[in-house]
Amino acid sequence: MVKAWFLSKDFGKKDEVNFCEEELEIASLDDLTKLGIHYYQVPVGDRKSLQKLLNTNGYEIRDVVTISRDKLPNYDEMTQRYYSEHLHPNEEIRYIIDGCGYFDVRNKDERWIRMLGEPGDLLVLPAGIYHRFRVTVDDWIQLMRLFRGGTVWSAHDRNEATEQMEPRREYVQKYIAAH
Ligand SMILES: [Fe+2]
Repeated sequence: MVKAWFLSKDFGKKDEVNFCEEELEIASLDDLTKLGIHYYQVPVGDRKSLQKLLNTNGYEIRDVVTISRDKLPNYDEMTQRYYSEHLHPNEEIRYIIDGCGYFDVRNKDERWIRMLGEPGDLLVLPAGIYHRFRVTVDDWIQLMRLFRGGTVWSAHDRNEATEQMEPRREYVQKYIAAH
């Protein structure tokens, strides 16, 4: 199970690392499912199981990226972009190969739920969900980026215009208005 918790309003150090789990307000898999998030676990190196999952869901591997100051070109700009609240018109599908990172998603009450993505986690964020990403203090993650069909990748920072986008409207109708 992916580790997930609600970020507190006075968000601080205890949200940054998970050494004091008892202090955290844990989010369940159900909390994530209600937001349209899918979660799978495939041991790193188990190519057969990974391929089976990809075939079943129609996911295709696009590339592998390493996010770390020494490895990612334009690190400051890129990491700032990942951590600014945004949405995509398509699913964001990530399989963590090494290291770890935080995937934050907004729930229907506008609270942040933070997921700690670790090796073997495969996370699927639905189109239209507001989210952001950052590495942990270790500053190291290797991710496989996956797509479905001929997805053209685009990211849109949250603003009034994104509220009117079709994928956002569909997301709201399916996961927010309905609950
Ligand atoms: Fe994203």
